[in-house]
Amino acid sequence: MTSTLTPIVEKRRTFAIISHPDAGKTTLTEKLLLFGGAINLAGAVKAKGERRRATSDWMKVEQERGISVASSVMTFDYKGCTFNLLDTTGHEDFSEDTYRVLTAVDSAVMVIDCAKGIEEQTKKLFEVCRLRDIPIVTFINKLDREGQDPFALLEEIEKTLALDVTPAVWPIGIGRDFKGCFDLLHDRLNLMEKNADKAALPKEGKTINGIDDKTLDAELPDHVDALREGVEMVRALCPEFERTSYLEGHMTPVFFGSAVNNFGVRELLDALVEFAPCPRPQETVSRQIKPDEEKVSGFVFKIQANMDPKHRDRIAFMRLCSGHFKRGMKLLHSRSQKQMILHNPVMFLAQDRELAEDAYAGDIIGVPNHGGLRIGDSFTEGESLQFKGIPCFAPELLKKVRPKDPLKAKHLAKALEQIAEEGGASVFKPVQGADWIVGVVGALQFEVLADRIRTEYDIPVIFEPTTYFTARWVKGELADVKNFEDKNLSSIAHDHDGAVVFLTRNAWHLNKAEEDFPKIKLMKTREQY
Ligand code: G4P
Repeated sequence: MTSTLTPIVEKRRTFAIISHPDAGKTTLTEKLLLFGGAINLAGAVKAKGERRRATSDWMKVEQERGISVASSVMTFDYKGCTFNLLDTTGHEDFSEDTYRVLTAVDSAVMVIDCAKGIEEQTKKLFEVCRLRDIPIVTFINKLDREGQDPFALLEEIEKTLALDVTPAVWPIGIGRDFKGCFDLLHDRLNLMEKNADKAALPKEGKTINGIDDKTLDAELPDHVDALREGVEMVRALCPEFERTSYLEGHMTPVFFGSAVNNFGVRELLDALVEFAPCPRPQETVSRQIKPDEEKVSGFVFKIQANMDPKHRDRIAFMRLCSGHFKRGMKLLHSRSQKQMILHNPVMFLAQDRELAEDAYAGDIIGVPNHGGLRIGDSFTEGESLQFKGIPCFAPELLKKVRPKDPLKAKHLAKALEQIAEEGGASVFKPVQGADWIVGVVGALQFEVLADRIRTEYDIPVIFEPTTYFTARWVKGELADVKNFEDKNLSSIAHDHDGAVVFLTRNAWHLNKAEEDFPKIKLMKTREQY
């Protein structure tokens, strides 16, 4: 890399946290923001009672179900680096959204509960990271509680995920007896202060002269033998940390800590500064885009409506892939081939926003819009680019939706259209009949949709079973598509963009259509631009 942008790009870290619900992702996020100076009172991301309502009330499902449904972006600075933390949802039914978020990060932190080890959702998300060669740092959390033996945990990660594992720190005691960690990479002793103020940063650890340093005997009379034995075993059994292997996604350095006690968070952040990757080159259909190229480019990976009742617009989240973006810039929107002036791009801090004056590769900016932008869209300074690898999902579950109040049918149509544009669900209007059909990937999405439509659009709705089994987008020459439509009218619908969709009643119906209309292609997903 050689350009004036190189040093700036090298200081960017764009990452996500992946974990199973309850492992401590929200807590860790909050602590990362605390260390990054982005919040000065722990509790701004997730707090109880009034404070929680004040900060993230906009999605009631989140509170009722205790899961974090929507993702957001948080930007903070730490030790000269700019971090962009992209939140991923924890529940399996929302992995669709999470997959897309993972297209926009350069590395990930995997949080594991020390008592539970690798859980289902961690594994799924890990597999997505592996597919995209995303390097992973592991944070084993809740060491202040009784948990599994650290060696057993390392072995589990290694075996379950087929990944080389190397501890970066080694825990001293566990549960009530947890004292802190020995930093294996820097020969430092980090002790946890019991009953420390959780809203304040803990003291830095102290450098010592290796594992045989007598300071350890004085500081940890009851634990020093076990610590030395553990470290000796680690050094004999585990491979040494190799940055290249980590960057290629073959090795994960493992940190132990207790997010709720602010412990281990500094070491984790230091590691991200020290060895996590800066924004990587991005593949497009025509060429590879380097992050320090002078011209601006970026792609939309997520669309969200009504993030905040105070701002009732829609935000397209764009990951910048190159160049120096400045507010007010005129960019080419590749799909429509129209120029757009980005007057009010925003950057995010939890639920707060501020105007983005400048942004570089790796940064995420929010582009407010009224529905013209889609997932997969790209922006450039003139070149027509189509970024690769933004996943698109086939709707596997279909249901009929209607408003409880029939007079609200028009409003419902508008709401469904908006949700479809965000990528929250597929929405189909059969050419015959008055109902709308909604297609999703996971069953819980129906509940979330019903709740969103009720709270954001004030339309109580009912989902009902349908006789449709699956949906296929109809592709082919115009005349062939028209012929197909005419012959199958009772199974034809249009999606929110007017594209022709074939709603099939069973597998036989689908096969038969494919046989009878060889010139037509029935696609599982809509093409991404
Ligand atoms: P998630 O986003 O991954 O779902 O997890 P979250 O941070 O919400 O944490 C889940 C629970 O685990 C929370 O408890 C949280 O306080 C607790 N927790 C997080 N880190 C640690 C840790 O290092 N040690 C211990 N002992 N607990 C930890 P909760 O009771 O569900 O919520 P709350 O009432 O404490 O907020």
